[in-house]
Amino acid sequence: MEKLARTLVPEYLKDLKVYQAGKPIDEVAREKGLTKISKLASNENPLGPSPYAIKEMTGGLWDLHRYPDMHAFQLKKSLCGLYSLEPGNIILGNGSEGIMAYIARAFLQPGDEVLTCENTFIGFYILARSVGANLKKVPLTSDYRFDVEALAKSITSKTKAIYIANPNNPTGTYITKKEFDYLMEYVPDHVIVLLDEAYFEFAKDCDDYPDSMDYRYDNVITLRTFSKAYGLSGIRVGYGFAHDELISNLSKVKLPFEPNLIGQLGAKGALNDTPHLSRTLKNNKKRYNETFDFLTKHDFNPIKSITNFITYKTGSLEASEWMFENLLNEGVIIRPLKANEMPEYVRVSLGNKEEMQHYFEAMVKILPKYNDLFGRPTK
Ligand SMILES: Cc1ncc(COP(=O)(O)O)c(C=O)c1O
Repeated sequence: MEKLARTLVPEYLKDLKVYQAGKPIDEVAREKGLTKISKLASNENPLGPSPYAIKEMTGGLWDLHRYPDMHAFQLKKSLCGLYSLEPGNIILGNGSEGIMAYIARAFLQPGDEVLTCENTFIGFYILARSVGANLKKVPLTSDYRFDVEALAKSITSKTKAIYIANPNNPTGTYITKKEFDYLMEYVPDHVIVLLDEAYFEFAKDCDDYPDSMDYRYDNVITLRTFSKAYGLSGIRVGYGFAHDELISNLSKVKLPFEPNLIGQLGAKGALNDTPHLSRTLKNNKKRYNETFDFLTKHDFNPIKSITNFITYKTGSLEASEWMFENLLNEGVIIRPLKANEMPEYVRVSLGNKEEMQHYFEAMVKILPKYNDLFGRPTK
């Protein structure tokens, strides 16, 4: 078997690590024997799916013996209406990560250089490496943002693609319109820019956030998702916008029936439920303010975020792991950031009121020992 793996698996796959998701609720319940669990680890929508989406999906159950519409006519029509686009400019997939995989498959080859920053979405690193691309990562700025100047300087004749998460996960920060314009001046026409806007809905009302729909670059692909603000992580639907030539080439490597039937219906229902989206944004804003204040009061220097999560500093890998484990014992799941090369930070997703209360109480309970162990003054 070892020999088979040696000959079968390309060199660039051998050291690749499998993506690690936030710990599932069931697993923690089983391991810890707990019933009350607050999962604040995967930036999901704590209000749940939209009731419209549920109605649409339930209605579709009787058609499950049929293949879905491979052109996803209805869902694309809703997206076209919302963003004034043509169906030929849209690609749908199994989450926005599914579309990233298509981009890697269609446009990247072993040895191609892909430029991005450190401390961004690991899913993308894995997908780029899985096709043998070489990742070239520049550090974030000192205020934890994508460094457009460093990116512009690092573009070479070998650069094939640039990946920007805007807003960025796990820092919650964003590049401004001015910065985006600056970077695009340096990007040659043949280099593809992947603008990952998984947290777009949380950011769109910031004045200087560059909504990519306001631009029409032929070499930019925008990726968005129903997994975050739309509360539909479980059905795995993402969408991408780009020039129709890029989309038609991506479609060649796309699996024909993604998203599946339930996914298409749920996503369409969610798009039509603007009140649910408004409730989501309103809850997020309140929880953000409370959580930011709590973390500031306890000297964790939270990073200002325009998303549905906050990253804060513990100061060391040991402190991050201790906090993660001890919150887990209290039934609260957060995310340590070692895999994102930020071992001295952890990330908490913003839940609903009860979940955040659970988190605050658990933090207050573990903090005296934490402060003692890690040499911090007790407040
Ligand atoms: C920046 C970023 N991009 C993409 C994704 C993947 O989202 P999806 O569920 O649409 O695959 C995530 C998920 O956490 C993310 O944080």
